[in-house]
Amino acid sequence: MKRIIIAIDGFSSCGKSTMAKALARNIGYLYFDSGAMYRAVAYFCMQNGLIEGETINTSELQKRLDEIHISFAADPETKNSLTLLNGINVEHEIRTIEVSRHVSQVAALDFVRERMVEQQRELGKQKGIVMDGRDIGTTVFPDAEMKVFVTASAEVRAQRRYDELAARGDNPDYNEILENVQQRDHIDQTREVSPLKKADDALELDNSNLTREEQMNWLIETYNKIITGC
Ligand code: CDP
Repeated sequence: MKRIIIAIDGFSSCGKSTMAKALARNIGYLYFDSGAMYRAVAYFCMQNGLIEGETINTSELQKRLDEIHISFAADPETKNSLTLLNGINVEHEIRTIEVSRHVSQVAALDFVRERMVEQQRELGKQKGIVMDGRDIGTTVFPDAEMKVFVTASAEVRAQRRYDELAARGDNPDYNEILENVQQRDHIDQTREVSPLKKADDALELDNSNLTREEQMNWLIETYNKIITGC
């Protein structure tokens, strides 16, 4: 059967990653989290003193971009995807609220996006992949055979992120998360390079009131329709 590229874009914390991962597992595809790549760059900046307060030292980051190597590996026990920064597992570190606070600023830099998009296209050469992000259907893979644009209200998304952080033992603050979600929406939608927007040929999925099962049924049905038409 033909293997395709599935692009899943949408707002922050609307469950894209969980959905994309589950879909990939169901249909035997590889899953790639493009947001993790931007998070890893933000984490690199934090680790290397390239962020002071709210200011990113962009000229230094540009000079040091070649020092940033991001790859993915499967956790040997859980089989979950792990993000490696220069060979070191940073999966946990890149999900903190500190990284969330800086990531959209880092992701708005044109030279960072250029480099990440290059790497994402490289990953797409193998086909049979699900990639989630903000610009996968518009910029990274404009010819992807299946494109989904996911939305949910900011409050629903903040609650989901709160539950996720609480479940892993953090002590989250709902209002801080809601503010972060709204702020990232704003930066993502208004940045000059590849702003977050629905591709004309993407299918919209508002999952505010959908269970995971309903959502998966919709995805599989959509995938099957597309694959039989290919
Ligand atoms: O998990 P969540 O949806 O909160 O965010 P993420 O997918 O981990 O992405 C983190 C941030 O990276 C987003 O808020 C965007 O600012 C940026 N991003 C991007 O600009 N382009 C992408 N393809 C993926 C993420």
